[in-house]
Amino acid sequence: MKYGIFSDVHSNYDAFLEVLKIYEKEKVKKFICAGDIIGYGAEPDRCIEKVKEIKALCVMGNHEYAIKNFKTAELFNDTAYLAIKWHADNMSYLSKNFINNLDFNITEDIFSVFHGSAFEPEKFHYVLSTENYLENLNYFNTKVLIIGHTHMPDVFYFNENKKNYGRITGDKFFLEKDLKYIINAGSVGQPRDNDKRACFLIYDDETNIFYIKRVEYDIENSMKKILNAGLPEVLAYRLLSGI
Ligand SMILES: [Fe+2]
Repeated sequence: MKYGIFSDVHSNYDAFLEVLKIYEKEKVKKFICAGDIIGYGAEPDRCIEKVKEIKALCVMGNHEYAIKNFKTAELFNDTAYLAIKWHADNMSYLSKNFINNLDFNITEDIFSVFHGSAFEPEKFHYVLSTENYLENLNYFNTKVLIIGHTHMPDVFYFNENKKNYGRITGDKFFLEKDLKYIINAGSVGQPRDNDKRACFLIYDDETNIFYIKRVEYDIENSMKKILNAGLPEVLAYRLLSGI
């Protein structure tokens, strides 16, 4: 069976649709979302409807949490704050209801899923350094920890005694029997790794192979919607450079 694993759609429906087309072509059966379906972009309701339609198992991201508990939006930078305020004012009751029922963590098959960090999940720490990764190892019990939040795909492996660890580069890797992994799914709707294409993962449990995928989408259309909605212009233009 194939799993479609993705994160940080950020209300970018055009990007999400292209990802879903590939999932359909690849006959993906199960979907996992590491949070931040909303925030920044212009189409939160349509993105949430799609997440519901494909029955993706989804955790709470910091942008969802800011809708549920608006005082946490005060921690956001000015642009993110303006965008989440726009979301709070414009999202449907049904979308907000969906968001309010998300949990910080889900466990499914070989996966634990958190948005930012398995350590203090409600604080949404960024997992970037080797130190951050090693700290996270103590907070999940499955073979794989899936995270998002940084908008940059990344793969970290380690063995049981934590003496052998490191990063894996490339767009395809095999899950070794005696290793555990922390995998950052990158971002569908606002990549920040200098690649403007939507980023997402596919895992095939028959071959034990993970794929990090990218797909082009209609960025101009997404930008137009952001500008027409009156959201901060920088949120449109950053999509062009993938930062
Ligand atoms: Fe995010």
